[in-house]
Amino acid sequence: MARRKKIYEGKAKILYEGPEPGTIVQYFKDDATAFNAEKKDVIEGKGVLNNRLSEFFMTGLNNVGVPTHFLKRLNMREQLVRACEIIPLEIIVRNYAAGSLSKRLGIEEGTALPRPIVEYCYKDDKLGDPLVTEEHIAAFGWASQQDMDDVVALALRVNDYLSGLMYGVGIKLVDFKIEIGRVYEGDFQRLIVADEISPDSCRLWDLETGEKLDKDVFRHDLGNLADAYTEVAKRFGVMPKNATHNAKPTLIN
Ligand code: TMP
Ligand code: ASP
Repeated sequence: MARRKKIYEGKAKILYEGPEPGTIVQYFKDDATAFNAEKKDVIEGKGVLNNRLSEFFMTGLNNVGVPTHFLKRLNMREQLVRACEIIPLEIIVRNYAAGSLSKRLGIEEGTALPRPIVEYCYKDDKLGDPLVTEEHIAAFGWASQQDMDDVVALALRVNDYLSGLMYGVGIKLVDFKIEIGRVYEGDFQRLIVADEISPDSCRLWDLETGEKLDKDVFRHDLGNLADAYTEVAKRFGVMPKNATHNAKPTLIN
């Protein structure tokens, strides 16, 4: 049997060469890491849940005109995505104070921010993804000023869409991280949302109880991570069958 080509393996996903030029197969692992992989575990079913949830959020974004890399889900753990040139930044949007913002500025977790705040971290595991400003981004040529204008516009559209979607199922979107890539179409370059959107990359709190339904459950040992992600999947009606069984991928139509 022909072996397919692995392009990249990260902490939570593997990328394989896709069936056509310009496509990539994105495989979701069950591995969970936190604090730059100082804390690690395997959470059975996490990859299946994130594959479904990322499909759901990216499809919704595509449908409202926010371009993403998502093309099609292939099976329980894999999706076909457009190849793009990833801008080496983690783009974080915050609606409420939490995590590193609370720590850095001494603002109590859960405090509503006066407006959404967009932050950038330079993607480099060796450096622990340090926070950077647009000055660093321009000076080191990671993205142009035009790119950054488009990045902010995209990030805020994603925030509006996701915030409303979450609110509709009783979830507060506290913050999230996205990655953005460039695709080339003839003489033009366009930016699209890439990577994943899942409870691994968002902070999601139940609107009524404040219960955490995201990776903070794993980061801070607050309970069962798969149960939290399952709750999110159930609220959106995308709960996969066999999520907690280590089932082999099966083809879907
Ligand atoms: P932070 O408060 O730790 O900076 O995290 C902000 C948001 O970014 C939060 O929703 C979690 C997400 N995030 C990632 O997706 N990957 C990361 O490596 C980190 C540190 C945060
Ligand atoms: N994804 C990062 C890591 O593994 C950090 C995090 O999400 O907390 O280490």
